[in-house]
Amino acid sequence: MDLDRVEALSADLERIAEGRDAASLMRHLVGLFKARVPHYHWVGIYLLRDGELHLGPYAGKPTEHTRIPLGQGICGAAARSGQAVIVPDVSADERYLACSVETRSEIVIPILDDGAVLGEIDIDSDLPDAFNEHDQALLERAASLIAGALAASGPGLFSAPEALV
Ligand code: SME
Repeated sequence: MDLDRVEALSADLERIAEGRDAASLMRHLVGLFKARVPHYHWVGIYLLRDGELHLGPYAGKPTEHTRIPLGQGICGAAARSGQAVIVPDVSADERYLACSVETRSEIVIPILDDGAVLGEIDIDSDLPDAFNEHDQALLERAASLIAGALAASGPGLFSAPEALV
C-alpha cells in the first residue's frame, strides 16, 4: 500500500474509533478496509476464545474456517506467536489453510493487550505479494484500537461469524 492511502486511512481509523464499543468498531473497520483498499479481497476479525480463533465480522466470500485452533494455519501461527505474519505467496507456505482458490497472499496482525493475544485481523488478497510494511503499520494501529475497545467492553462479543458484504 502506498503512503498516501495509509495516511488517509489512518485519519479515518482514529475518527471511527472515537466513542465506539468494540463490536461496532470491529464491524466498521472491516467495512472500511474492504471498501477502501482494492487489494483487500477478504477482511475478517477473529477473537481468541478457549484456545481457538472464532471468526466475527468479515467481508468477502464465506469461509469454512470460522474456527481455527491455535497453531493451525497462518492465522493460528500468528495467534500462537503474537507476531504479525505476511505471506507473499500462500501456495508456497505449507501452513496455509485455503479459503478461496483466488487468494494469492495474506497478512495476519495479532490484536494484543499487553503482550496477550486477544485475536487478530486477517486479510487475503487475490494479488501476489500484496502486503508491505505500510499495510502492517496501518493494521497494527487498527489492532491497537480494537484492543483498547475490547479492554473496555470485555469478552463475549460475538458468538457466530457475521458477514458484512
Ligand atoms: N488462510 C487462513 C485461514 C483463514 S481464511 O484466510 C479466511 C490460514 O491459513 O490460517
